Amino acid sequence: AIALSPFTDSITYLEDGDWAVLHRDRVEIFDEAGNPVMRAMQKSVGTAFLVDKGNHRHFMEKEIHEQPEVISHTLAHYLDFSAGAAREGSVPLDFWHADRIAMAACGTAFYAGLVGKYWFERIARLPVDIDIASEFRSRDMPLSRKSLAMFVSQSGETADTLASLRHCREAGLTVASIVNVRQSTIARESDVALPTLAGPEIGVASTKAFTCQLAALASLAVAAGKARGTISTDEEKRLVRELAEAPRLASQALRLGGQIEGLARELAQVRHVLYLGRGTSYPLALEGALKLKEISYIHAEGYAAGELKHGPIALIDETMPVIVIAPHDRFFEKTVSNMQEVAARGGRIILITDTKGAKGASVRTMETIVLPDASELVAPILYALPVQLLAYHTAVFMGTDVDQPRNLAKSVTVE
Ligand code: G6P
Repeated sequence: AIALSPFTDSITYLEDGDWAVLHRDRVEIFDEAGNPVMRAMQKSVGTAFLVDKGNHRHFMEKEIHEQPEVISHTLAHYLDFSAGAAREGSVPLDFWHADRIAMAACGTAFYAGLVGKYWFERIARLPVDIDIASEFRSRDMPLSRKSLAMFVSQSGETADTLASLRHCREAGLTVASIVNVRQSTIARESDVALPTLAGPEIGVASTKAFTCQLAALASLAVAAGKARGTISTDEEKRLVRELAEAPRLASQALRLGGQIEGLARELAQVRHVLYLGRGTSYPLALEGALKLKEISYIHAEGYAAGELKHGPIALIDETMPVIVIAPHDRFFEKTVSNMQEVAARGGRIILITDTKGAKGASVRTMETIVLPDASELVAPILYALPVQLLAYHTAVFMGTDVDQPRNLAKSVTVE
């Protein structure tokens, strides 16, 4: 629909095996067996307008800046801010009887799912088994019919994610998906399709879809906590109020663009970068490294800060920038001691934190990026922004094709 938007807003989706004959004035559609069939024509609203770069140099830059708005749309779909509660009926899933969630996704969507795992387990006391979709489908793991299967995908067309979904369907699990494209195959083949309202995402490197996936997962974790009785009505209210702050805080974070651009000029000179984080900042470290390598072609690795001693510390010398994602949370002190280990070996630390964290860090950093204070639930959504901006500006300095990096595809529909 996006590719065709300059020409038409009328779209007919074919089913698997369908084929069509295009005439100048009409279309004939046939199914796999060659029988003529009717497939409904749908209107794709305003797509042509939405796929314009506006005043931005790249779609990626535009999509990064759209985040406060689209996060707010996504949250409002699941949460009733005035009542301070998860919206009744927005998540038609039986969390009460579920024994666990089996989750799979690829790339950035996988990292969103990994943050979701921390949330479901902590807020709803619901265990989550998450795997990269290509491994999930080949692992032949025992699946219980009492488990919920959950898939996360921007496009809703990723081959390995779709194959994992079909595997779970065959095993008799209830299948839910968090998707950005409502008419996609993954959405259509799910029992429950849970939307992210990011709008069309054109940049190959996912940005706004990621934070909207986080917004949806956070809302789902609150709904699950409520359904399972693991949070009280007051706690639900508090969490919903915290999430309501996310769009405003995201706008504030975007104002750090100038500082981050200055830092990117230096990052564009290096060959390797290490990202570290603990708790929900660990998947963000993975996402930061992915974003940087995807679009700037600089080698980057993300690690759980606690794993530093188990290998990556050997890489640290004066040439190695180490980006530490560390809001002042329950894990902060532990991450500070990791930073001291890095500093003692001459590593150049770039700390992404909040005001309290900047005061308490007690190590010399090459640069400290100070974000507005945010609750533990909102932090991953907020910290995604500087990580994206850093990759974006570095890639611009490197002169790469930011929106269409080499060798990558927006939607991977082959194995
Ligand atoms: C490709 C894209 C990534 C994306 C991944 C999963 O690799 O380049 O940006 O995260 O696919 O895509 P999905 O559409 O399933 O979220």
